[in-house]
Amino acid sequence: MNMRLDKFFTSVGLLSRSETQRAVRAKRIFVNGAAAKKADVKIDPEKDIITLDGEQVLYREFTYIMLNKPKGYISATDDSRLPTVMELLPEKYGKLGLFPCGRLDRDTTGLMLLTDDGELAHFLLSPVSHVPKTYYFECRDELCEISAEKLADGVDIGEKSLTKPAALEYEGKSGRITVSEGRYHQIKRMFEAIGNEITYLERVTFGPLTLDPALARGEWRELTENEIKEIQKHNRNIKEN
Ligand code: URA
Repeated sequence: MNMRLDKFFTSVGLLSRSETQRAVRAKRIFVNGAAAKKADVKIDPEKDIITLDGEQVLYREFTYIMLNKPKGYISATDDSRLPTVMELLPEKYGKLGLFPCGRLDRDTTGLMLLTDDGELAHFLLSPVSHVPKTYYFECRDELCEISAEKLADGVDIGEKSLTKPAALEYEGKSGRITVSEGRYHQIKRMFEAIGNEITYLERVTFGPLTLDPALARGEWRELTENEIKEIQKHNRNIKEN
């Protein structure tokens, strides 16, 4: 694997491109024991030994995993009583400091993002970023036009403000609802607010990510390059707004 020295420093989050140039000029950066001559020199971050001010800098890209959460698992990194979503991953991921980006209830299934990218998680979860999340739902009673309209317009779930407008498609006792907030037990409480009850809930999208239909419950895969670009773009968009 080859990459430019300045890209290496930006991707590990230590120096910007211009800071790398300055550090190279100041002979603060060494590659395999020799002072780096240029910031755009090609290095292999997995094999070459890179030091900054005499300290080795280890290459560590962030890891992003899409998981199809089954029922019965809690969205936490550890728990003394109940199985956590982390237990569905192979051991090799154990040391990376991954955590679930957001929560799904124990009985909710579907799309979860697990990552060690704290900044991205912070932006995806921040209430001001309004990341859309779509859930497939089944409910106890058939939805009628009036209750569906209420859900879409915003309902009182016992908090200071009504829920924000939601997009809703439904037929009888099932459908898809898209919300741009992440209030505690939000979907279940929205249905309670209209005198109904959620009987099944599955998250199918999270921001730009869509649950991969090839993943069975409990299965996972790393995000593709394109998916990573998409969520990072999302993060940038949020920062700029
Ligand atoms: N809303 C809920 O009520 N539960 C979830 O798990 C996610 C959203």
